[in-house]
Amino acid sequence: MIFSFLFVLLVPLVWSLEILPTLRVDLQPPEEYNRLTSRNVSTSWITMPIDHFDPQNTDTFQMRFMYNEDLFGGPGYPVFILVGGEWTIAEGWLRGGNMYLMAEENRGYQIYTEHRYYGQTLPYENFTAENLRFLNVDQALADLAFFINDLKKQPRFAESKIILYGGSYAGNMVLWFKQRYPHLALGVVASSAPIAARLDFTGYLEVVHDALLSEGGDECISILRQGISDTAAALQTEDGRHTIQTTYRFCNESVFDFDNPFDLGYFSGAITWRFSGQVQTASPGTLRNLCNNFINNVYGTTPMEQIAGYLVGQSCLNVNFNILLNAYSQNNNNRAWYFQTCTEYAYFQTAPRSGTIFDPLIWVDVPFYSEVCKRIFDIRYDESFTADAIDRVNLIFGGTEPNVNNTINIHGNIDPWHVLGVYDRDIKASSPTYTIPRASHCFDMQNWLITDTIEMTQTKNTARRIVSSWLSDN
Ligand SMILES: *[C@@H]1O[C@H](CO)[C@@H](O)[C@H](O)[C@H]1NC(C)=O
Ligand SMILES: *[C@@H]1O[C@H](CO)[C@@H](O)[C@H](O)[C@H]1NC(C)=O
Ligand SMILES: *[C@@H]1O[C@H](CO)[C@@H](O)[C@H](O)[C@H]1NC(C)=O
Ligand SMILES: *[C@@H]1O[C@H](CO)[C@@H](O)[C@H](O)[C@H]1NC(C)=O
Repeated sequence: MIFSFLFVLLVPLVWSLEILPTLRVDLQPPEEYNRLTSRNVSTSWITMPIDHFDPQNTDTFQMRFMYNEDLFGGPGYPVFILVGGEWTIAEGWLRGGNMYLMAEENRGYQIYTEHRYYGQTLPYENFTAENLRFLNVDQALADLAFFINDLKKQPRFAESKIILYGGSYAGNMVLWFKQRYPHLALGVVASSAPIAARLDFTGYLEVVHDALLSEGGDECISILRQGISDTAAALQTEDGRHTIQTTYRFCNESVFDFDNPFDLGYFSGAITWRFSGQVQTASPGTLRNLCNNFINNVYGTTPMEQIAGYLVGQSCLNVNFNILLNAYSQNNNNRAWYFQTCTEYAYFQTAPRSGTIFDPLIWVDVPFYSEVCKRIFDIRYDESFTADAIDRVNLIFGGTEPNVNNTINIHGNIDPWHVLGVYDRDIKASSPTYTIPRASHCFDMQNWLITDTIEMTQTKNTARRIVSSWLSDN
């Protein structure tokens, strides 16, 4: 009795913080759309072949999709499909957002498909490397083709034109779908699509830096630069290491080895991911406020204390490479997406070497991210395996030169992902690109927001107008 009483008293009342890389995008609809339950969204399932490329394999799985027929005009009216990516699908995206407005303007039927191995669309209960072998974009695009073909067997959709909308990785998917299956979709809208796979993706943190500079200003950048370089320097000395442990509030139970490059990778990675997460979801104004906090010493006194305070707050930081390995060993969306990064895209967000505030965090490198591939899946998934996998993806889909008509390609210029997309030119005359100043990841997918700039509003309107013109021309 006394023992357990003491034990309870001694357990620290401090949240331990585990920060994950910003590799996976979790595209959540704004809460207010999920709550609009008068807009009727239903869920259904379709039986899908597990392997579209081997007719001898007749195994199947159940793929989930949602639909909303409230706006549908009847036979011959269009079908709008929001393509799910590396997340769990949610009803809100069929109750609001720019695709909803397109469906409203064109009396369209709306569908939201869930990507294999994400959310509830699970071909296998556990995600061993063996079971994950059917997780790739080729199979996922074939799922969509199978789905559309099946849909068109219903008389009411036999004459319907199909429009696809996708954001982030699902933006890649809609562009690639239009290229590979042009007979199955009239046109597509791709939001924030990073269509070029890349191993050493230094450009990501370069944009995070540029965004903090353009939105927050020089004074902010110089505090961040000092705080991060002081941190990196402290990691190399005995005294410095002690200071880091207390300043960054390492949890008492945390086992951290200052000589282990992967522990250092996790710690310095956590700093970059915290800023990355903020920039990737920033509306105009968000980063200005963040920078004002740094300028007004809200998070601490010295620059290093400020970085630490921003990162950890009142929690404690649980730093150890195993935290990362454990997080990716659960059978969930994070693990499935890490598999796709190891075997298709990498997108490893590494420390730049171009004078950014993140340059000193040299431990966030390709070997660090690659080690995770080897440890959680298979020792075969090393750096050279992933490099070859990337070459395959860029070869078969054409990198930043996709051959597509009738696509709308939208980016935000403070979105760190935009550098892997086509953002500075039209893909073709029939496939225009819009890059929106001060916008981050996938914001054009939403309804009008109070924080929208004029360019954002115009781009959303333009996308709707172009989609309507495709539908009326055909
Ligand atoms: C949802 O369905 C109900 C019952 O069929 C209907 O009365 C209502 O109008 C629908 N909502 C919308 C937004 O169409
Ligand atoms: C994973 O699932 C397979 C069947 O799909 C099963 O044979 C295997 O034991 C499972 N492994 C674990 C670690 O649960
Ligand atoms: C570590 O333990 C000490 C003593 O119990 C406590 O004062 C301190 O707040 C703890 N630190 C963290 C980061 O949890
Ligand atoms: C795109 O349209 C142009 C002009 O109609 C045509 O020449 C070209 O073959 C089309 N490309 C594809 C991939 O459909």
